[in-house]
Amino acid sequence: MRRTILRGRVLTFISEPLGLDDNASYRYLEDGAITIADGKIVAVGDYAPDGEAEVIDHRPHLILPGFIDTHLHYVQSQIIASYAGSLLEWLNTYTFLEEQKFSQQGHAGTIAAAFYDELIRNGTTTAVAYCSSHPSSVDAYFGEAERRNMLMIGGKVMMDRNAPEALCDTAKSGYDDSKTLIERWHGRGRGLYAISPRFAITSTPAQLEAARALVAEHPDCYVQTHLSENDVEITNSMALYPSSPDYTGIYEDYGLLGPKTLLGHCIHLNHRETRVLAETGSVAVFCPTSNLFLGSGLFDRERLSKAGVRIGVATDIGGGTSYGMLETMAEGYKVLQLRGQRLTPLNSFYMMTLGNARALSLEGTIGAIAPGNAADLVVLNAAATPAMALRKATVTSLAEELFLLQTLGDDRAIAEVYVAGARAKSTLGGL
Ligand code: GUN
Ligand code: ZN
Repeated sequence: MRRTILRGRVLTFISEPLGLDDNASYRYLEDGAITIADGKIVAVGDYAPDGEAEVIDHRPHLILPGFIDTHLHYVQSQIIASYAGSLLEWLNTYTFLEEQKFSQQGHAGTIAAAFYDELIRNGTTTAVAYCSSHPSSVDAYFGEAERRNMLMIGGKVMMDRNAPEALCDTAKSGYDDSKTLIERWHGRGRGLYAISPRFAITSTPAQLEAARALVAEHPDCYVQTHLSENDVEITNSMALYPSSPDYTGIYEDYGLLGPKTLLGHCIHLNHRETRVLAETGSVAVFCPTSNLFLGSGLFDRERLSKAGVRIGVATDIGGGTSYGMLETMAEGYKVLQLRGQRLTPLNSFYMMTLGNARALSLEGTIGAIAPGNAADLVVLNAAATPAMALRKATVTSLAEELFLLQTLGDDRAIAEVYVAGARAKSTLGGL
């Protein structure tokens, strides 16, 4: 079996860092070697010459697990940076028009290819995306992932009201199309399916009932939806589902919560809702650039975390403003500053890697540099721009270097990306 060794400064997390000096939460090798065979990591340790393996030397850069993005919309790639006052205006003015384009032959394939290029440019090797309501948008999404051998999660948006007719399915067609797509894509290659009712406002009770049936019939699939992003959204949701106790209660009443459920935003939750999320093991997904851009509010990480709610972090493209998880964490840091909460750089890099792998119940597959895991990796250059190089000259610790990468870094700091052991981005030449 042909082996490749990546040599460099290796960093991977073992547990959630409890503070800036929690050195037991990660493994760091100053001159490390990651041995790769058949797309997987087979060994990690200090570098030692090995006559048979090809060695790629990434020193002095840092090698980390590929970044994971737990919530975004690939079909919104062409409406990033659209000017609106708040969520519902943004959805009605841009989003619902843009997503209609995915009925056009060829459009989904073009956008999917550009979208994956952008993920890779930014060091993201796994993401969880909403497609449009058109099944062909899902075929394009998973087809492109398969060509690139990427572990990607996604699904057809289910939406049968309060949107243009051209975008709406019905309770029955949403169920039938989702079922066909699950059978076609879930578990094929590295693809995994997410049952995706958009949010309570755009689904009738009959459609949430159909989503419940899909979840019951396919318990190993993910579920993704939006929860408690914006005040008007909450009011409208409660008017549509008056018998539910609160917004979370709507999804709870339809059996949609659980350890494979990813809930985008979760900003304005009451105590009961927080408790229900913790009890069901559902994941609250922090989307900092989107929440700032749409003026939705400040995520309360400390409160959710103390209550035992699982947390993921995500770009939420196209409400979000960057594909980069580095920029996402930079803005996440500022959101939490405004809440009076600290987010250590160790914690940021944990969240983008092992933390998000755990949010997806994929620990042991991705998110860490460990034998048996996929060789999905990023190589980071903390001196990628003149401003970064200037600051890097004064850096004296690993945590400072990470904070510099997060605060000043963008796609230029992503020197190399490996997907299942194959080079997907390189600044060393050859790609
Ligand atoms: N809520 C329902 N749909 C969407 C969407 O596409 N983006 C965001 N940010 N929130 C939503
Ligand atoms: Zn979203």
